[in-house]
Amino acid sequence: MAYTVPKLKSFTPAALDKAAEKLLASLKLEAAAVKNEADWKVFRDRWMARKNGVLTEINDLWLKAAPKEAKREVGQRVNELKAAVTATVEKARTGVTIAPAPAVAKVGAVRPSVSVEPAALDITLPGNRRPLGAEHPVIKTMHEIVSVFRNLGYSVEEGPVIETDYYNFEALNFPPNHPARDTQDTLFIARQESKPQRDRLLLRTHTSPVQIRTMEKMKPPVRIVIPGKVHRNDPPDASHSPMFHQVEGLAVDANITFCDLKGTLDHAMKALFGSSVKTSFRPSFFPFTEPSAEMMVSCFICGGSGKRGSEPCRPCKQTGWIEILGCGMVDPNVYGFVDYDPKKVSGFAFGMGADRIAILKYGVDDIQLFFNGDVRFLEQFG
Ligand code: DAH
Repeated sequence: MAYTVPKLKSFTPAALDKAAEKLLASLKLEAAAVKNEADWKVFRDRWMARKNGVLTEINDLWLKAAPKEAKREVGQRVNELKAAVTATVEKARTGVTIAPAPAVAKVGAVRPSVSVEPAALDITLPGNRRPLGAEHPVIKTMHEIVSVFRNLGYSVEEGPVIETDYYNFEALNFPPNHPARDTQDTLFIARQESKPQRDRLLLRTHTSPVQIRTMEKMKPPVRIVIPGKVHRNDPPDASHSPMFHQVEGLAVDANITFCDLKGTLDHAMKALFGSSVKTSFRPSFFPFTEPSAEMMVSCFICGGSGKRGSEPCRPCKQTGWIEILGCGMVDPNVYGFVDYDPKKVSGFAFGMGADRIAILKYGVDDIQLFFNGDVRFLEQFG
């Protein structure tokens, strides 16, 4: 009868000797019976398969079940038996005739030392192809947003992810100690205390500092979009990530009004989400814009009804509206930091979260999926 791993009643060295002896005797017998490759595979799996193989069973029934004081001894025996089984299984293979590999060689393969029948060499077989990667869904979304504004004549600017307090806050009209700084959950770089506050480094919490960097080097008219990575001290969960992405926009020129802001953003949302979406603005506060607004887009998932069939629409929380970005007219104080004359120019700015938009567009229910690097998730966007 085929050997099965018994449960041990006693874990004394003598009992272990006896159990090991039985196991090894069966191993030898079964190895001797291996005649061909098919036999050998069955033999290998019976002894070494992860699930229900004899080695797994002695691990479970002997080692795991052993009382604490016998664990060391049993562990040693089990290891010896593992080595014996592995060696016997390997040796049994050399005794069988292994079916010859198909006699075709791939182009570029190392020539095997056995001779290959020339007629069987198929040089038309393709070489090894490496799978092509695809654009990451968040990057793809950022590109889509950026291209909507590029089509309106905006150019693209970028800036550093490690930023100074001055650009991230002060020049955007967040004075030192202003409570609006608290809304930004900032990750500060360590050991900056010896520097004046404005020079201290931090991970930028938004892409807005690139507004200042651009206005410093460019005279109006300015029309820019700024895609980029930002960080905040948010513990990761389904809707938060300490690293995420924003797309910022800025337009400054003579006579730019809130109407221009509304018209531009309404057009952009129609280009992104479809021509039937509506936009709606409600008052808000950002230190660097005055007045400030939050813009809502009518829910492009339920069409603004708040329902999907008889079910409530979750992405818009049944309101029919989705909050999509912050915006406003550039606060005149900001122009003071970049040598623009607030009597001559005016402008608007906006900023949106690209990851959130990607979540809504693709119906993803956990932001972490974007950053775990699991190919099975990412290849769906290829
Ligand atoms: N920087 C803001 C944030 O991350 C978003 C924002 C709001 C950007 C209004 C803007 C704006 O340019 O005008 O919370």
